[in-house]
Amino acid sequence: MITKYQKVAVIGAGTMGNGIAHVFAQSGYSVNLIDISQSSLDKAINTIAKNMDRQVKKSLMTEDAKAEALGNIKTFTVLSEGVADRDIVIEAATENVDLKIKIFKDMDTFSPAHAILATNTSSISITLLAAHTQRSSQVIGMHFMNPVPVMKLVEIITGYDTAKEVTNDTVALSAYLGKIPVAVNDYPGFVANRILMPMINEAIYTLYEGVAGAEEIDNVMKLGMGHPMGPLRLADFIGLDVCLAILNVLYEGLGNPKYAPCPLLKKMVSAGHLGDKTGRGFYNYAKV
Ligand code: CAA
Repeated sequence: MITKYQKVAVIGAGTMGNGIAHVFAQSGYSVNLIDISQSSLDKAINTIAKNMDRQVKKSLMTEDAKAEALGNIKTFTVLSEGVADRDIVIEAATENVDLKIKIFKDMDTFSPAHAILATNTSSISITLLAAHTQRSSQVIGMHFMNPVPVMKLVEIITGYDTAKEVTNDTVALSAYLGKIPVAVNDYPGFVANRILMPMINEAIYTLYEGVAGAEEIDNVMKLGMGHPMGPLRLADFIGLDVCLAILNVLYEGLGNPKYAPCPLLKKMVSAGHLGDKTGRGFYNYAKV
């Protein structure tokens, strides 16, 4: 364990937040998981336990290790209490710039002076979030991929003011979690989504223009290019609202019409068909 950073807080108990809490707790860190509603926190702990069961079934984890990992996680509904004694605080809230700015101001106010403030944002500027704190050199992007316990990558994003030492420590910390960190610079979409989202958008245009059906498009990419999921299935998995938000960041941030979100994506989001989480997107899903 990196001794400088033993105590972690994760803000947001959704898909990404619970995955991040899972991997830190599994690696022996003390994790405070923070959300505004206790029911979201209870649901997150339940999800983490179920995902750990998958690891137990495959002998990747013992029952004792699972119990120990779950014991490393405490839940909080008050941010100031959850971050008070932490060495690193990772924000994993909804992809909304105003919300993230507000959370970053609170993280800065209530976290110890030495703490690193990280964000799991998929595309929002690290430099902008850092500018709303009094410690811009200690602000960094730590972009995990879904499902967090399975995917190897952590995209580490350095803001304009991020200190070299903070980048090095965050890279080392991610490697300690068994991940493969890749450090990149802060530009809209960073690397992962600058490349992934235009591909997804193009797949949506391909459907919209009637070139082929959803399954055909996905099969071409799965069977022809070896992708584990086709781009439309992946868009449903990520969430169509998240895809639209990221494409808007690329479109506005890079000022190039090639990033304009497909009208079909916008219409589906307006209709509330957001993919897996609503039971309907490019495919239909039985709601859990
Ligand atoms: N926790 C623990 N283990 C999990 C898990 C979870 N949440 N989800 C899946 N797994 C495990 C399964 O138990 C299974 O293990 P084995 O193969 O050892 O049995 C393995 O992962 C594969 O899962 P499944 O058998 O259920 O299904 P699958 O073979 O279809 O794989 C998948 C599922 C791993 C999600 C695979 O389809 C995949 O890699 N898809 C692409 C995912 C991807 O691109 N993610 C990045 C999205 S972009 C993003 O996150 C960032 C952003 O900013 C938008």
